[in-house]
Amino acid sequence: MTATTSTTTLVLPVPSAAVSTPERRRTTRHYLVCEPRHFAVEYSINPWMDPSAPLDTDLALAQWRALVEVYEALGHRVSRIAPVPGLPDMVFAANSGTVVRGRVLGARFRAPQRAAEADHFRTWFQANGHPRVVMPTRVNEAEGDFAWTGDLLLAGTGFRTDPAAHAEAQEVLGVPVVSLSLVDPAYYHLDTALVVLSEATPDHRAHIAYYPEAFSAGSREALRTLYPDAILATPEDAACLGLNAVSDGHNVVVPREATHLSARLTESGYTVHPVDISELRKSGGGPKCCTLEIRA
Ligand code: ARG
Repeated sequence: MTATTSTTTLVLPVPSAAVSTPERRRTTRHYLVCEPRHFAVEYSINPWMDPSAPLDTDLALAQWRALVEVYEALGHRVSRIAPVPGLPDMVFAANSGTVVRGRVLGARFRAPQRAAEADHFRTWFQANGHPRVVMPTRVNEAEGDFAWTGDLLLAGTGFRTDPAAHAEAQEVLGVPVVSLSLVDPAYYHLDTALVVLSEATPDHRAHIAYYPEAFSAGSREALRTLYPDAILATPEDAACLGLNAVSDGHNVVVPREATHLSARLTESGYTVHPVDISELRKSGGGPKCCTLEIRA
């Protein structure tokens, strides 16, 4: 600015966060979702599932529709796969494929009750522009245990995905994989304990949030080394499945009870979109579980 008058120029102090916080840039995403028309808690394959507890399936459907409306209002592309009777967990689309740079690795479920889901998703991929989907030979619960950071694939194991599936993912997808061990049965999938908020760029490492106590000591150390600026979630954030969030780089869709995490996200430059997922949580799921990202 050129000073043309003798008026005193007031220099306002810039808050330090504005200097150190990188711009949180949104990119348009493509999500695959599955309406919970046949949703139920009929068996128990994680500590959240109690088949004897009351479940409001109409409310589950309404909450799911509200979630999809948030994605659409944010300008994302949403594709739908038809739900299949007898597969009550098919709403958790994240478990059915890992798509990175246009390559697709399908799923192989640990629980026999979910096994048939994998083939329905394989068929969807083949009919929707991904004829070369590769089906895994090892137990692989896809984005439930795989999180793409923009430069590497974080891979969870301990309860569901076989560690050998990590090497298989590296072979099929051709991206570096970092294995992480989960130790708390309540956080049985990686996406219940860790979320990628913004992907790595040439100038910035990826930004993530996670719940340290869900990981083994060595995995915690590895996460600290890779992501020293990560947001660390509290036990309360984790206990409402707050980390099962979905970010487009700027907007983060978060279970509404995760108030501490939401405050930290806002401080870090994100816009938080709280959603109510009380009924899906009774199956151990949240927004991210319902959402498979297609990275063209
Ligand atoms: N009831 C489902 C199961 O235990 C929930 C899956 C949640 N999905 C996820 N990506 N964490 O398999």
